Amino acid sequence: MTATRSVLLCDDDADLRAALTQTLELAGLDVSAFAAAAPGLAAIGPDFAGVVVSDIRMPGMDGLQLHAAIKARDPDLPVILMTGHGDIPMAVAALQNGVYDFIAKPFAADRLVQSLMRALEKRALILENRALRRSLDESADDLPLIGQTPAMERLRGTIRQIADTDVDVLVRGETGSGKEVVASLLHRWSKRRRGQFVALNSGALPESVIESELFGHEQGAFTGAQKRRVGRIEYSSGGTLFLDEIESMPLTTQVKMLRVLEMREISPLGVNEVRPVDLRVVAAAKVDLGDPAARRDFREDLYYRLNVVTLSIPPLRERAEDIPLLFSHFVAKAAARFGRETPEVPAGLTADLKTRPWPGNVRELHHFAERFVLGLEPAQPMIVAAPPREARSLPERMERFEAEQLRQALADHDGDVRRTIEALGIPRKTFYDKLARHGINRADYA
Ligand SMILES: Nc1ncnc2c1ncn2[C@@H]1O[C@H](COP(=O)(O)OP(=O)(O)OP(=O)(O)O)[C@@H](O)[C@H]1O
Ligand SMILES: [Mg+2]
Repeated sequence: MTATRSVLLCDDDADLRAALTQTLELAGLDVSAFAAAAPGLAAIGPDFAGVVVSDIRMPGMDGLQLHAAIKARDPDLPVILMTGHGDIPMAVAALQNGVYDFIAKPFAADRLVQSLMRALEKRALILENRALRRSLDESADDLPLIGQTPAMERLRGTIRQIADTDVDVLVRGETGSGKEVVASLLHRWSKRRRGQFVALNSGALPESVIESELFGHEQGAFTGAQKRRVGRIEYSSGGTLFLDEIESMPLTTQVKMLRVLEMREISPLGVNEVRPVDLRVVAAAKVDLGDPAARRDFREDLYYRLNVVTLSIPPLRERAEDIPLLFSHFVAKAAARFGRETPEVPAGLTADLKTRPWPGNVRELHHFAERFVLGLEPAQPMIVAAPPREARSLPERMERFEAEQLRQALADHDGDVRRTIEALGIPRKTFYDKLARHGINRADYA
């Protein structure tokens, strides 16, 4: 985590601002100074790693209003107020209202620095707790979004940022890339998590059924409608409606869906009234609906309506660095599920997995991990001395060759490091790096 030592300073007095900035910087703090409250407020992001110091009397938004605005966004962000008027009742009221400290001008720089240091310490603890809670939430999660590549970190950041807004979202990604995982996170990281996550897959349902599923119907609305049925849109009210494979939604349904998105109300089949719904739609598409050729007969207006925010999940082959992490997660999960020991994953296998194309993306890797745990996928036969005959990629064959050479050299010298290194003619550090990479244990040869 970044160090918590930022100070956001708002004061309309240019001289005082400059002097305070200098003092605080000398105390080792990072200062961003603003001549007014509004631009200062705008510069405060979520999890701001610092505290706020503000003058009270300023043109425009004053310090008390600034504090109120900050409190609404992040009640755990300490705000220290300064005032030149020694207004005691105001100070008392402000402190009761949650202002961290109140300093009367003129003051000794030390007084402010000390207060700031305490406030920063408090803030650091809060941020640490938040991070901890989040990682606990995420690891306890049975549908986590795993991945540490920059693309996945960004994706997670964006989900967090927009989860709690009611904006409709389009999730795009190849098959098995995690669209449903993303949709479910958008739901679970929002206030709507207390409501239902309701999914409807347009590709999996016959056209005749989709509309009554979506909109519901009154008893007797059509032949076969024996009972009243609450549609999925209405059922998702207050929660999240997940429209999977939106590209296969029938044209007539698209028109009706567009209306729902615009009006935020529905009228079930056979019902003459409209009912308001508290709707949040997350739609998923495998194709790029922004591309007219890929969109085919999907309605452009519906696409633009859904495209307020689009989250694109990169295919697995474009984030190969995440493969080892995902694979060991799935292996552990599968082992638990099948009641088996978690098998060791040979380094050579991990290297190989990273070079595969994975057309079925994460789902395919998941299934591979299950077969691996069941012993149905051949673990890399690295213990076998002779290279297997089947054709493999050049990097894979080189990896394998290198591992064999290391093992052979260790065996030849009874695991003696100095002699093995001499025989191989490589630096000691390289030697150890390679052992680690291939998962070779020197002690096995001693
Ligand atoms: N980043 C990830 N971390 C952990 N598991 C993931 C991740 N991405 C996908 N998965 C897992 O992979 C499988 C496929 O994911 P998901 O169902 O979300 O894909 P999808 O994009 O909706 O696929 P489809 O287009 O076929 O509907 C699921 O078991 C899911 O839990
Ligand atoms: Mg899906």
